[in-house]
Amino acid sequence: MERIIQLTADGSHTLLIPNMEVSYHSKHGAIQESMHVFIQAGLYDDRIKNLPQINILEIGFGTGLNTVLTAIEAIKIQKQITFTSIEAFPLSKEEWSQLNYGAILNQQPLFDAIHEAKWDEKVRIHPNFQLCKINQKVNEIINNLIHDELVEGTYNLIYFDAFAPAAQPELWSAEIFSYLYSLLTHNGILVTYCSKGIVRRTMESVGFTIEKIPGPPGKREMVRAFKM
Ligand SMILES: C[S@@+](CC[C@H](N)C(=O)[O-])C[C@H]1O[C@@H](n2cnc3c(N)ncnc32)[C@H](O)[C@@H]1O
Repeated sequence: MERIIQLTADGSHTLLIPNMEVSYHSKHGAIQESMHVFIQAGLYDDRIKNLPQINILEIGFGTGLNTVLTAIEAIKIQKQITFTSIEAFPLSKEEWSQLNYGAILNQQPLFDAIHEAKWDEKVRIHPNFQLCKINQKVNEIINNLIHDELVEGTYNLIYFDAFAPAAQPELWSAEIFSYLYSLLTHNGILVTYCSKGIVRRTMESVGFTIEKIPGPPGKREMVRAFKM
C-alpha cells in the first residue's frame, strides 16, 4: 500500500493513501486534531478523567499519534492507563521512523518504544502506561467475537479513528458500533471526529446517547457518544 508523508498546518506529519484518497489526519494539523478530538474531548471528559484507572480502546493505531499523546498525558497526570489499539495495516519501521511526532513532542524514546512494542502482546511502556497493539481487522474480530483483550464492559473510553465513512462505510456500521457499545463500561464514552447525520443515527440505533460538540479547526462539530 502506497503511503506518502505530508506536512499539516501545525507542522506535524500525516500520511496520505493516494489510491484511497484518504489521509490519516486533518490537513489543518494532525497533533492539533488528535489533542482536540481524543485527548481533550475524550480523556479529559469529566466522566473519564477522575477515574482511578482508565482503559482505552482505539480503532486504527495508524501512526501511533493518539497513542503517544495519551501516554504523555498518563505520565503527566500520573494516571494508570491501559491502551489497546486495533490496526489492520501496520506501518513499516521505514515509514514510522520518518514521522516527526517524537521530535515535535520532545518524546522520541516514548514514540519509538510504542512502535517497537510487539504486536498482540501486553507491553508496559511506562509504569503509568500499558499498551496492547492488536494486528487484526476490527470487522474480523467481530466475526470471531473472542479476543482476550476485548471483553464486554471493559473500556471506559473508545477512540474511534477509522478512515472516513465515504472511504470505509463498513466500519461505521450498526454491527461495529453495537460491538463497541458492548465493550464499554457503564458511563463509557466513544469519541470520533466524524459528525455525519447517518453516523449519529447509526450510533443512536445501538443505544448510544449522542453529544455534538465543537470540532477541531476545519471541522464545525465532532461526536461524543455516551453509554448510560
Ligand atoms: C484515520 S487512520 C488512524 C490514525 C491513527 N489513530 C493515528 O493516530 O495516526 C485509520 C487507521 O485505520 C486502519 N484500518 C483500516 N481498516 C481497518 C480495519 N478493518 N480494522 C482495523 N484498522 C483498520 C488504517 O490502516 C489506519 O491506520
